[in-house]
Amino acid sequence: MPILFPADEFAKMKDLLIIYECGLKIVSTKLDIINQDFKSFKQANPIEHIKFRMKSAESTAEKLHRRGFTLTAENAREYIKDIAGIRVICSFTRDIFYMAGVLRGLPDLVVSEEKDYVTAPKPTGYRSYHMILNVPVHFSDKVETVPVEAQIRTQAMDFWASLEHKVRYKYPEQIPQELNDELVMCANKIDDLDQKMFLIHEAVRGG
Ligand code: GTP
Ligand code: MG
Repeated sequence: MPILFPADEFAKMKDLLIIYECGLKIVSTKLDIINQDFKSFKQANPIEHIKFRMKSAESTAEKLHRRGFTLTAENAREYIKDIAGIRVICSFTRDIFYMAGVLRGLPDLVVSEEKDYVTAPKPTGYRSYHMILNVPVHFSDKVETVPVEAQIRTQAMDFWASLEHKVRYKYPEQIPQELNDELVMCANKIDDLDQKMFLIHEAVRGG
């Protein structure tokens, strides 16, 4: 049975999602401009591409439920920080840290949380750099600060994460051990590949 917000909370959730979507627009515009800057005025571009998405009310309800919280819009605001999400896909691992620095340096965003799963991957093999960016959204009569989750990763890490996500979806309880081990092995191979490709890139650039 699907987990759903009660009607009155669902109405509040719809308003909250509109506000969050405005925050997402601001962050994505900022990143578009940074991407344009790299493309037009700099020698190299650490960004391959940028993706963004909004979590639906249904997924938000499901996540609140999973974490044992009552299904209210207030709890969504308090506990679910990835309702608005942005993914920056970089060419190389080094670019991830560079981009994290660029985001940290944006004067009107406040970073409230950073998780470095690149240096310390999750036991699943998951690698990415996570940041929660708090962005002020100016409405006609009020300012709302909205959290946007940024995930920064290489193309190879992104490839792995999408596949692992599909596997996880198919086995919501637990991924079978054998498949789990295969995924960890793939994650390590991908990391090796990222490092080797970076070395080739550096050698070509230097030569
Ligand atoms: P959730 O994992 O979203 O409940 O939040 P959290 O507070 O534990 O944050 P965390 O930084 O662990 O993960 C946030 C997001 O990163 C998730 O919603 C996923 O999009 C992604 N993520 C984290 N771990 C994994 C993983 O093992 N595999 C994949 N494919 N994605 C992951
Ligand atoms: Mg998690």
